[in-house]
Amino acid sequence: MRNDWSGQTFPHPPGRRPFIGDIRKINPSAPLQSMMERGKDLGPIFEVHVFDQKFVFVTGAELAAELCDESRFEKGLSPALVALREFAGEGLFTAYNDDTNWALAHDLLRPAFTKAAKQSYHPIMLAAAQELFDLWEAKSEPVDVSADMTKLTMETISRTAFSTDFGSFSRTEPHPFIPAMIAALKAGQRKGSLNAMPGASLMAKRIDKRNAHHQAYVDKLLDDIIAERRAADEVDDTDLLGIMLHTPHPETGARLDDINIRHQILTFLVAGHETTSGALSFALYYLSRNPEILAKAQAEVDEILGADVDAEPTFEQVAKFRYLRRVLDEGLRLWPTAPAFARSPRETTVLSSGHTMRPEDWTIVILPMMHRDKSVWGEDADQFDPDRFLPENSRGRQPHTYKPFGTGERSCIGRQFALHEAILVLARMLHRYDIAGDPNYELEIAERLTLMPTGFELALSPRTPEVTAQLEQDAAARG
Ligand code: HEM
Repeated sequence: MRNDWSGQTFPHPPGRRPFIGDIRKINPSAPLQSMMERGKDLGPIFEVHVFDQKFVFVTGAELAAELCDESRFEKGLSPALVALREFAGEGLFTAYNDDTNWALAHDLLRPAFTKAAKQSYHPIMLAAAQELFDLWEAKSEPVDVSADMTKLTMETISRTAFSTDFGSFSRTEPHPFIPAMIAALKAGQRKGSLNAMPGASLMAKRIDKRNAHHQAYVDKLLDDIIAERRAADEVDDTDLLGIMLHTPHPETGARLDDINIRHQILTFLVAGHETTSGALSFALYYLSRNPEILAKAQAEVDEILGADVDAEPTFEQVAKFRYLRRVLDEGLRLWPTAPAFARSPRETTVLSSGHTMRPEDWTIVILPMMHRDKSVWGEDADQFDPDRFLPENSRGRQPHTYKPFGTGERSCIGRQFALHEAILVLARMLHRYDIAGDPNYELEIAERLTLMPTGFELALSPRTPEVTAQLEQDAAARG
């Protein structure tokens, strides 16, 4: 985790103190947003010292694009990800590039993310969305968007990947896995950012002790899921868990061991729902704030799904919601819900900024800053405008300037899964309900390695019979 960049220095926030460095400039519960604030006048690359630990951040699109060159750079593990390895081990997200379990799991699990596999998940995604609507229809008050999107995406990943129902829609409190996961993510974030503090190992021990019951709960939950599947009479190798338990590597015959399977389940449960739930919540926030954009989105869903508010999109139809896709893309530009990734060079190299970087050095790309670089996105880069992603507006944009799903070999394996799920849910939701946010709500973002709007509520009203009648008339007029 040493990261001394051969003693090179970078611009840093004013007011650095001996010994503690820049720590006073960082809000421990919102470190990424602190960096966005502190880094905005420091140029495309800057540093922050937390005690003895140097963090180098890249925010400029040109430099970030250079770091995405896979022939020169690869994924690095930031201290936060290293800390998370205690929880998720050599799961895909937290594995080192040369961990043999990474290549093995990557090869085994890729088939679970093909188009054919996604087709089999489609009805499960639809059923989970319907259950959420049933829940909403039983109550009249505004809904807590992030909480409900979390229930939905959690159920979707647990049912599709592990054929396990977490009962999220029938609980008044979230499934105990959720607070346990949040505690682990926050602990990772805290341990990662304070790892050079004097007494850090004592603090880490204290955090671990506080989290021990969460860890024990999660381990038992996941081990029970594995044991139950092993004990089943019939071999089911259609979902992720089945593949991991029953499929050897096609060339080497190697298999994942049970500890690694536990780590992979955990990884997929976390990576597979937090980020998608945040993406849906940000999209809904911006839709509720922009009536014209909302009207266009609703016109698209009405056009494709027709007048029946109970209509469910077919698998093929999901790809046709081009405007909804642009809304999601734009939400993930402004607030990429996995907001940073680290890069290290494969060999010592000199960056276009003139800095020498060795394989033991790493830098963190801050995506919401890179995604707002005015040289790429224009003077209005902070504005929400889905039309930036129209083909004619995207054409000619430099490559590697939009990276919400990471980059290269270690980029997101679940990207298509997430987009399919999010579009399907938005389509059904906007078709079924008119949405209204509280005009006094100001976007507040909770951080736990991921980003998520907090306190954001929407009032949902069923689309009225008049709307439906109008749609029917329009359809008849179109013949
Ligand atoms: C909007 C939703 C999502 C976003 C924004 C997102 C973002 C990302 C990013 C940025 C990375 C790379 C991290 C790095 O370089 O350190 C990543 C990796 C990963 N994501 Fe996603 N993700 C999303 C949804 C999903 C879903 C639905 C799944 C699973 C079904 C998933 C599973 C993974 C896994 C396993 C990795 C590690 C891949 C590897 O290193 O081999 N993600 N994701």
